[in-house]
Parts: sequence; C-alpha cells; structure tokens
Amino acid sequence: MVRPESRAANDHIGGPIGPTPVFSLPMDLVTEPRALERLRGSALVPTMGALHEGHAALIRRAAALGGPVVVSLFVNPTQFGPDEDYQRYPRTIDADLEVARRSGADAVFAPAATAIYPEDAPVAVPPLPKVALTPRLEDACRPTHFAGVCQVVARLFDLVAPRYAVFGEKDYQQLLVVTAMVADQAPRWRELRIEPHPTVRESDGLALSSRNRYLAAEQREQALGLSRALRVAHAAQRPETAERMMRDTLEAHELAVEYAVVRDATTLMPVAGFDRPTRALIAARLGAVRLIDNAAMTVWR
Ligand code: PAF
Repeated sequence: MVRPESRAANDHIGGPIGPTPVFSLPMDLVTEPRALERLRGSALVPTMGALHEGHAALIRRAAALGGPVVVSLFVNPTQFGPDEDYQRYPRTIDADLEVARRSGADAVFAPAATAIYPEDAPVAVPPLPKVALTPRLEDACRPTHFAGVCQVVARLFDLVAPRYAVFGEKDYQQLLVVTAMVADQAPRWRELRIEPHPTVRESDGLALSSRNRYLAAEQREQALGLSRALRVAHAAQRPETAERMMRDTLEAHELAVEYAVVRDATTLMPVAGFDRPTRALIAARLGAVRLIDNAAMTVWR
C-alpha cells in the first residue's frame, strides 16, 4: 500500500501504552520536495521509471547500505535529444510503485516537472567532467545527453541530500560521469558516495533495460547480439581484434553498429593493449530502438 506524503507509523499515535510493536511500514509516495526533509542521509536510486528486475537489484543494494531508501521516478526531458524517445518512454507508475515497495524502498519521489525545473528558478547544468566530453561514445552519439543527466542528477542530489546513490553499470559512461561530477563538485555533496551495481541480465545474457519493452519477439533474438559480441571479445589477444570480433557478431545479428570498442575502464579513452583494466562498450540500433551494453575485459595481461 502506498500513502501520499505520510508515514503509516503516525497513524498509531494514541494506541495502548506497552512494548513498541514492530510495524512493517508502507512505502511513502512523495511528490513535494519539502517532504524529502525527513529522508536526508538516504540511499537514493535515481530512475526514469519503467522499473524492471535490474532496478529491483539496485533498490535491494540501496537497502543493504542502511538508512532509508528513496527511489526517484522522473522521465527527465533535458537528457533526450529532439529525435529521441522522450514522448513514448514507458510510463508505468503503478507497476513501478509495486516494484519499489517489494524491493525495499521506504519512499518513492515522483515529482512533477515543475518541482525539478521551477519556471522562476533556472536549474544550472554543472560543469561536465572530461569523461562526459572526450571518449566520443555516448557523448558523440547523444551530444546533449550528459548535460541533461548531470543537470537532473545534481538537482536530485540537492533535493534528496542522500548519503549514497546507486547507479547500474549498464549505463557505464553515465556511472563514470556522475562519479566524476561528484568528485569535481566537492564539497557540494559532502559525504555522498556513488555505489555502482553490476548489470542484471536475463538467463540468455540480454541486459535488462526499460527500452527492451520496445522489442518485438523476433528483435529480441537479434538484441542478443550485444551480449554475444561482448562474450566473443574475451577471446581476443588485442583490443583491435576484440573490436573487430564484436563488430562481426553485431553485424551477423543485423544490428547497425554505432560503436563497438575496448577502452580504458576509467577514462574511456582508447587503449593499445590489455595491460590495464579495460571495458568493452557497444551501442547498436535495431530499427528505431537503440541498445547499449558493456562488460569488463577481465583478462588483462
Ligand atoms: O539512468 C537513468 O535512468 C537516468 O539517466 C537517470 C540517472 C535517472 C537520470 O535521469
């Protein structure tokens, strides 16, 4: 059960005096930023809704960190390009509340757009870290994306004032961008720690994504090309061989490749060999659907 702007424990004021009963608190639905006041120091899981088991894992991770867990649901218009899927992005609030509740959230923050971007007070875009500008990956394919992500994430951090924020490795460049933004802006979000969480996959390897809902049954088989490409890349002895093998696998699945690269795991800049931690990263199109995936190249030699 979800209660707007209230905690069920308050409902028990005036009950019989005796040992404190243990209540299983229902989850709060918060829409007004001022109602976040009492949730300061939480573990925040920022999302755009359309929650799936990958999000559920992030929420469980947040719950394991201690303190209250806040899940934000906000489809942020500023991180979508003009030809992207902002209008059709799945909005599934009732199902999202249920996923958040059963995964251990104490509150869902689902603000109106005017609460995030008030008409009378422009929300600044923080200076973008290098990893948002130089790798020529998501930054090149979606030129305004990280400005929007940093703008909304900074705003959420200011409003929620979390102790932890949990981000999935599925959006690997985003994870690095947010981590660098927090470090660059110190001491703006004092004590905040970004907590990464591994990508959650279906048993056949498909990385969970809210955008998988766009895939028709036959496209789902093609989408497996991404995780298969990452798997075959592990056999390569050199980054350029891994990149060619990934491209071949993606093309064999009739996917239009945007990038299929091996990069330094921290800077996302090109590497000449496997003498340091590296990451394989892919973006590919399947008709109108854009898919991304990545994996650590665990065998570095
Ligand atoms: O990863 C996402 O869902 C979004 O980019 C985020 C971090 C919630 C910001 O809107």
